[in-house]
Order: sequence, then C-alpha cells, then structure tokens
Amino acid sequence: MKVAVTGATGFLGRDLVQGLLSRGHAVHVLSRDVPQALGRLPAGVSGSYFDGQTALAPDALAEAEAVVHLAGEPVGQRWTRDAKQRIHDSRVVGTQVLVEAMKGAGTVRRLIAASAVGYYGGTRGAEPLTEESAPGDDFLARVCRAWEAQALGAREARIRVSMARMGVVLHPEGGAMHRMLTPFRVGAGGPMGSGRQYISWIHRADAVALLLFVLEHPQLEGPVNATAPQPVTNAAFAHALGHALGRPSVVHVPAFVLKAAMGEMAQVVLDGQRVLPRRALDAGFPFLHPELEPALKDLLSP
Ligand SMILES: NC(=O)c1ccc[n+]([C@@H]2O[C@H](COP(=O)([O-])OP(=O)(O)OC[C@H]3O[C@@H](n4cnc5c(N)ncnc54)[C@H](OP(=O)(O)O)[C@@H]3O)[C@@H](O)[C@H]2O)c1
Repeated sequence: MKVAVTGATGFLGRDLVQGLLSRGHAVHVLSRDVPQALGRLPAGVSGSYFDGQTALAPDALAEAEAVVHLAGEPVGQRWTRDAKQRIHDSRVVGTQVLVEAMKGAGTVRRLIAASAVGYYGGTRGAEPLTEESAPGDDFLARVCRAWEAQALGAREARIRVSMARMGVVLHPEGGAMHRMLTPFRVGAGGPMGSGRQYISWIHRADAVALLLFVLEHPQLEGPVNATAPQPVTNAAFAHALGHALGRPSVVHVPAFVLKAAMGEMAQVVLDGQRVLPRRALDAGFPFLHPELEPALKDLLSP
C-alpha cells in the first residue's frame, strides 16, 4: 500500500520508512524540506511540502491509502512561551491541516497519529494506566488531548484512526537515552528527583514495529499505548542503565537542580506515568524487547 509519512526524517520516522519499504509498501514523505528529506531517505521515496500550518496542495498526499503522522516540534527543549506554542501548534494545527487534506484526497483509509503517554498527565504515581484510563490536565496532557481530538476528526471521512501513545523511545541515536548517556558514561548518572516516578519506555525497534503492526491491523482503532509491558521507576532505570554501561549510577540529581537547568520542562523527567500496553498485548503484538535490562544491553551492544 502507499503510505504517506510526516516526520519521516525524525528519530522514529527514519526507521519507520525503512520498515515500510522492507515490507513492500510505497512511501511518500511530507516534510518542511523535501529535498533534504529525500536526500536522507532511501531511493524510491517521493515527497511533498508540509509545514503543519499551510493548507496542503490537493495532490500532496499522492493517492496514499494510509498516513502515519509523526511530525511535531521537539518537546525536549526549554519550554519558553514561544516553544510551548510551537509544541502545541505543530501538533494540533498540523494534524488539523493534514486531516483536511486527507478528507479532500478521498484515497486515505487509515490514519496512525502519534500521541504520547503524557496524555495521562504526570502525577499518577504508580497507578497502572491503560488506554481506558482518564487523561491528565497538565500542559502535555492538554496538548495530547487536543492533538488526538484533531486526528479523530478524520473519522468524518470514514478513515480509521489510531493514536499511538508513545512512551519514552529508547535508542542511543536520539531522544532521552542519547541525552542520558554522557553523564552516565562519566559516572555522573543516577536517579532524578524522587526516583519513584515511572518511566514508560520502549525500545525503538518495538516502537517502529508497533506502528507497522497497527497499520496492518485496522481493527486497532483508537488509542494504543506504545510502551514496553514492564515500565520501571526512574531509580530502577538509572540502576539498569549504569549496570548496562558498567558505570556507577549513584549521583542523585535533585529536583531543584533539574528545574534550574531545564525550567518547566523538568516536569517531563520529574513526573512520570506507569503505562501498560494492554491493547497491543491483547492483539498479540510480539514485543522483541519486553524487559529493560536486555533491551539496554541490545541498545548498547556495539
Ligand atoms: N521520541 C520519543 O521518545 C517520543 C515520545 C513520546 C512521543 N513522541 C512523539 O512521536 C512523534 C515522533 O517522534 P520523534 O522523536 O521521531 O520526533 P522528532 O525526531 O523530534 O521530529 C519528527 C519530525 O517532526 C518535524 N518537525 C519538527 N519540528 C516541527 C515543527 N515545528 N513543525 C512541523 N514539523 C516539525 C520534522 O520533520 P521535517 O523536518 O521533515 O518537517 C522532524 O523530523 C512526535 O510527535 C513526538 O512528540 C516521541
């Protein structure tokens, strides 16, 4: 099938495009810089301009039957007023623009839109959270709710919509793990804040495989938590990462230090949520890396 992908040049998108091509799908990317995107992706991929603000040209979706929507301003930056606006608008307005184009195109039957475990809010402690749990009400939870609501608008055109609530995607090339590696490698890593907050992590290979699984299982409409079955506390995560690197992990980073360094964004690290992938497990998704220690070993092996 022909699949249009936004955010194809990103941390998840590059691997997803590879996965789609290797399964015989045709890929059309939507990017703010099409020549650069096509230069970074394998041959045979086509592309159209998409900036998440301007209405898409009528032929921009190139008769795609499915859309995977990953584009969005990075969350891992200092949350100035402008940055928060970009984090919100790139997702909420971006999804609205994309859905309008999908409705007009008439060829699209499936939308898989990224969302995040931030949907559940950051103050749920050890409460096990499934797709049926109620949303939270902090900044990221409100962004996720509005983002998902825009994606669900595609149902008006009888498009089946799935929202992949991504956990903390682990790979040394990018995301949270990339930022943690340097302090841990020099022995300056350890639990952050109370250490009791949960990290709902997922190996990048499983995150990409789950997006492909959802694409190929249209019955998985609605929210799907994209997290490993065994979330861990921040302290357990720090211990496992230190162990995998053969380094100590005892340098506790207090909340006030993180707040001083990161501002309001520190909330993402100091809060957390214990999210379970109930729908993926019920549908028989075969996790390659369900447990943290072997997952880290795999990610850190040369
Ligand atoms: N990685 C994680 O751990 C994680 C966790 C939870 C949720 N998610 C969500 O999953 C999605 C994919 O994650 P990722 O880590 O692969 O993302 P990423 O690498 O940060 O970025 C994905 C793509 O979004 C586009 N983009 C960036 N800023 C934009 C802006 N201001 N307006 C419009 N487009 C913009 C870029 O594509 P072009 O330059 O080609 O336009 C970029 O390659 C994101 O929506 C993210 O919020 C990721």
